[in-house]
Amino acid sequence: MSLADCKLIDLPKIADPRGNLTFIEGLQHVPFSIHRVYYLYDVPGGGERGGHAHKALQQLIIAMSGSFDIVLDDGREKKRFHLNRSYNGLYVCPMIWRELDNFSSGSVCMVLASNRYSEDDYYRDYNEFLLARRKV
Ligand code: TYD
Repeated sequence: MSLADCKLIDLPKIADPRGNLTFIEGLQHVPFSIHRVYYLYDVPGGGERGGHAHKALQQLIIAMSGSFDIVLDDGREKKRFHLNRSYNGLYVCPMIWRELDNFSSGSVCMVLASNRYSEDDYYRDYNEFLLARRKV
């Protein structure tokens, strides 16, 4: 459950002059069953979201339209990813602090998640997250 486990995943792309098509199957293209989908939209240009970690949730984050950056932090090191293709997804394993920023206006961020929403699964305080990381 470190930054090394988080990676960009190349999703299948069916190129077609009529418009390209990408598909995602749980346990096939992402290493989890998909239990929830949510998306961020109407984010003001240059806006920021995130600022939390999850205890057990796994996610795949995709820039469906436009672009944004994601900074992942496992308590030891940080890495910035730039997402701007709808056929690339960033896999985020549990116990990783994430910040999303640098949203282009009109961008859409879609997230596939391994479980239903539960506030109990969040660390929203960075110091609490760091303390928990030391016990991992
Ligand atoms: P949050 O995960 O904190 O979003 P961000 O980190 O991008 O700011 O969620 C914002 C609010 O939406 C929070 O009150 C919880 C609620 N929410 C749900 O009710 N269901 C969901 O699936 C998600 C992701 C959030």
